[in-house]
Amino acid sequence: MGLFRMDKARRLIIAGNWKSNKTNTEAVALVTDLIRDLSTVKEVDVVVCPAFTALSDVSRLVLESNIRLGAQNLSDAGYGAFTGEIAPGMLRELSVRYVVLGHSERRQYQNESDALVAKKAANAHANNLIPIVCVGETLAEREAGITERVVETQVRGSLAGLTAEQVEATVLAYEPVWAIGTGKTASSAQAQEVHAFIRKVLASMHGEAVAKRVRIQYGGSVKGSNARELLGQPDIDGALVGGASLEAKNFVEIIRNAI
Ligand code: 13P
Repeated sequence: MGLFRMDKARRLIIAGNWKSNKTNTEAVALVTDLIRDLSTVKEVDVVVCPAFTALSDVSRLVLESNIRLGAQNLSDAGYGAFTGEIAPGMLRELSVRYVVLGHSERRQYQNESDALVAKKAANAHANNLIPIVCVGETLAEREAGITERVVETQVRGSLAGLTAEQVEATVLAYEPVWAIGTGKTASSAQAQEVHAFIRKVLASMHGEAVAKRVRIQYGGSVKGSNARELLGQPDIDGALVGGASLEAKNFVEIIRNAI
């Protein structure tokens, strides 16, 4: 077991974002394997985020396990005439604890703005759900040298209106868009640089003490072979995993390399 986390107060959180993959039957099969293979893991928080259609069955299976449940989106409102939306109470009943918000795919394909993400994050906190708020620059933005400006705007905008306590309990995910699903991971140095910058932005918003407690995941082509080096960086507190979370063997390898 690695000792490299000893200096970090923040507990690692490794989440699988299954995106629009896995039918209910397939999701049940995957989580059954994960429960079996990860039953002894106590050192890190493990989260799976299936599609809404699989949450109910997966919820029943993980209830007695060390795996926590996340959803991939949340309405900015409650129950009501909002066709197609998922209200917080629906997730709470299924023991969902986390909600991924503002993923770059939603920002890109559903035109989600920082302001909408902030409303959803506030709705999550008001209902005892922990938002995993995603930020990250595109390749064009990185090449134009505006990564920090873009990420700062997203962090400030997506957390706008939250109290210091709510920000402290929020998980952030830095996911450079150019590294998502491309096999191109940010180098550990590139990722660490942005994570440290995000923590600086959080400190300027809510003070050092809050910034030190916020967990910031890295996402973008994380796999077993690069997890240890990324997670060993001082400001990287976990991973948000897409492709490599879709097969038990690959996701388990990431977790094994994190502890
Ligand atoms: P990949 O791990 O497939 O690059 O996806 C990352 C991601 O978008 C997780 O939310």
